[in-house]
Amino acid sequence: MGFGDGKVVDIHTHMYPPEYVKILESRTTIPLVRSFPGSSDPRLILLDTEVPILEEAEAAKSRGEAPLNIPGRPLTKHYSSLTQKMHFMETHQIDISVVSLANPWLDFLSEDEAGPIAESINADFSRMCEEKCGRLFFFAALPLTASQEVILSSIAHVAGLPYCRGVILGTSGLGKGLDDPDLLPIFHALADARLMIFLHPHYGLPNEVWGPRATENYGHVLPLALGFPMETTIAVTRMYLAGVFDQVPQLNMLLAHSGGTLPFLAGRIESCILHDGHLHAAGTKPKKTIWEVLSSQIFLDAVVYSDVGLKAAVQASGPEGHERLMFGTDHPFFPPLGSDEEGEWESVTWNGAAVRKAFGGAEDGEESDEGKKVRGVMGGNAVKVLNLRRDGCR
Ligand code: URA
Ligand code: ZN
Repeated sequence: MGFGDGKVVDIHTHMYPPEYVKILESRTTIPLVRSFPGSSDPRLILLDTEVPILEEAEAAKSRGEAPLNIPGRPLTKHYSSLTQKMHFMETHQIDISVVSLANPWLDFLSEDEAGPIAESINADFSRMCEEKCGRLFFFAALPLTASQEVILSSIAHVAGLPYCRGVILGTSGLGKGLDDPDLLPIFHALADARLMIFLHPHYGLPNEVWGPRATENYGHVLPLALGFPMETTIAVTRMYLAGVFDQVPQLNMLLAHSGGTLPFLAGRIESCILHDGHLHAAGTKPKKTIWEVLSSQIFLDAVVYSDVGLKAAVQASGPEGHERLMFGTDHPFFPPLGSDEEGEWESVTWNGAAVRKAFGGAEDGEESDEGKKVRGVMGGNAVKVLNLRRDGCR
């Protein structure tokens, strides 16, 4: 890619440390890892929509047959290997990655195990960053199923880790979503510690939404292309309606997949609030407009694969919207299917091309305003917003 002398930064890139994979291998309900005859890699099964195929495949396996449909996705070395992450970065000229545990994080752990496992997984990420000093930073995982005391002490702990720049959070929060008043002390603690929340979907929409043909015929397209973005949109809109951004004005969030559909729907959200009799009578309208929140507390990643969505994201993010958008890849999800995984990934080149196209096709290193905006989105914004500098690296 080579964006002039600007650094290219990938802020949306995941890993499952080997310890996490072991946990998934030991599980009997999703998320889990299973091997099946006919598939060289073990399979990673994460989503509700994958359960019917998983059950059929388990039944076939127990009859000693190879399953007709293999569930989930191959769990390749891309998910756990640091060497592979660095190779991916070299291949795509990515200077810095801000890595995060992939979904569903620690959401399924028991109250007792969540705290110690969070500490150990965050230590894994810390070690990897230390080893690649200056090339890697991370968003930590929180033990959200543990007590509030444990969660708060985890926040204090990760805030002191030298490469931690925020936390990755799903939409379930403590189990009741992100508009849960019990989350307020946690949001305050994150804001006070200046830790960015990277909000990422996992649960999608209920299976029935996709209709009876989906499981057999449409693969992962509907839950990933539509379910994930709607989930994010709903979660952040609930936070907004609950007044979280008013009550925690220093809270900063980075929304996956350019905020789902938030940039496109922000006007409609505003209008529905303005015309809502209940909110009007109860006086519970959020104080800040959604546009104010988008231009002051929300950052968006650029993982939408098209300049059309990116332009909406920039415009929705206010007059300096181009400074609130950050390039990402979603590695190791979406590997190329028709070419070597060691080579170029279209999921990366599409996002890079979309950024250039969104700014009038500005070229690498171009000294125009548009060229500067491209370099900002490709890395400069992330370096500035997340303070991705580390002195003293050998
Ligand atoms: N699928 C997932 O489960 N997670 C991602 O981050 C991307 C695709
Ligand atoms: Zn992701």
